[in-house]
Amino acid sequence: MTNDPHWQEDTRVLHGDSHLSRRESDHKSVVPPIYYSATFAAADAAEFADMANTPRHAAYYTRYGNPVHERVAAIVAALEHTETALVTASGMSAISTSVLALLKAGDHVIAQSRHYMSTTKLFDEVLPRFGVEATLVEQGDMEAFARAIKPNTRLIMVETPANPTLTITDLAAVAALAKAHGITTIADNTFASPLNQKPHDAGIDIVVHSATKYLGGHHDITAGVVCCSHALAEIIWKMHTTLGSVLSPMDAWLLLRGLRTLPVRMARLNATALALADWLQAQPQIERIWYPGLASHPQHALAARQMTGFGAVIAFAVRGGYEATSHFVAQLELATHAVSLGGVESLVVHTAAMWAGTMNEAQMIAAGIEPNFVRFSVGLEHVEDLKADIAAALAASVS
Ligand SMILES: Cc1ncc(COP(=O)(O)O)c(C=O)c1O
Repeated sequence: MTNDPHWQEDTRVLHGDSHLSRRESDHKSVVPPIYYSATFAAADAAEFADMANTPRHAAYYTRYGNPVHERVAAIVAALEHTETALVTASGMSAISTSVLALLKAGDHVIAQSRHYMSTTKLFDEVLPRFGVEATLVEQGDMEAFARAIKPNTRLIMVETPANPTLTITDLAAVAALAKAHGITTIADNTFASPLNQKPHDAGIDIVVHSATKYLGGHHDITAGVVCCSHALAEIIWKMHTTLGSVLSPMDAWLLLRGLRTLPVRMARLNATALALADWLQAQPQIERIWYPGLASHPQHALAARQMTGFGAVIAFAVRGGYEATSHFVAQLELATHAVSLGGVESLVVHTAAMWAGTMNEAQMIAAGIEPNFVRFSVGLEHVEDLKADIAAALAASVS
């Protein structure tokens, strides 16, 4: 069976890896086995030479690749419309391995002033130690991207939507600007998922994911995926075999299982989050809400142009400051107070609580950390149950 380019995404997640089937050797199991093996045998010297010298061989040594990685990669590449994909041990390893593979001392890179916090650290703290200069720009300001370009700019990294207010970057505009200057582009597509946004179709070269989120979908693994051309994949894979952030075969298998239901989960998550966001913005105890699917989002028009759904993350501010927000989060029964997003159960984060041990409310405001800010990752609970839970928690917390 081939990976048919005409298949719809619901079919791709189930059969996009069928061409890799090794049913003769695994007793025709319907579900692919977990190849829990660090190394793989050769029949003879010629086969060994072939295994050792074929880049990205799926069954030579697991740090170089594993048959389960290969299946995951086939499906995610098919969803992202890229030639191929690589699987790594976390979203951060997908990002750092790709970035390190493409840069050298003396290069310049442009990234956003708002990224996932460890990505910011990579550009702010890690790369300068290796002689790479980074300029961080406001992601909604295309002029700022253009102004930041230098003769030695090699890479532009974007992330959309991005924390904390789900800000949107114009993917097609960044890709066109970069192409005009021969600069490679990377987009972190974690918050959108490949079902809602296809950065490569907009012209972005490399698409990275924290597969810990929607792709895995069950809050049980950390994993990462890099989607790109064969040529870029070989460069990134070489760095990957050196840095060695390898996803275990078991976690790759859990990721594969998660991917099988991605389209049905995303359809439900998109619908529940949009309905919940619409309801939340009408609640008197909510001061402000940010969800790219709402007309009230400052970049809704751009989001609607490049996204086909708006994902499960809603950000909002609760009236009443730190204490009321803290109480509200503690009162929720269906949403667990935990970081991460994109899984089957709802999670909620009181952002300022991360700094509560080191700053008071006035200091938080001075540092731009709104004390009443909440990030809600909608799960697969019924929307009416989520509304009832939130309404009860708001009533008990905000006067
Ligand atoms: C947008 C984004 N990118 C990257 C990461 C890092 O992913 P991981 O935790 O799988 O390393 C995260 C984690 O929350 C994220 O939200």
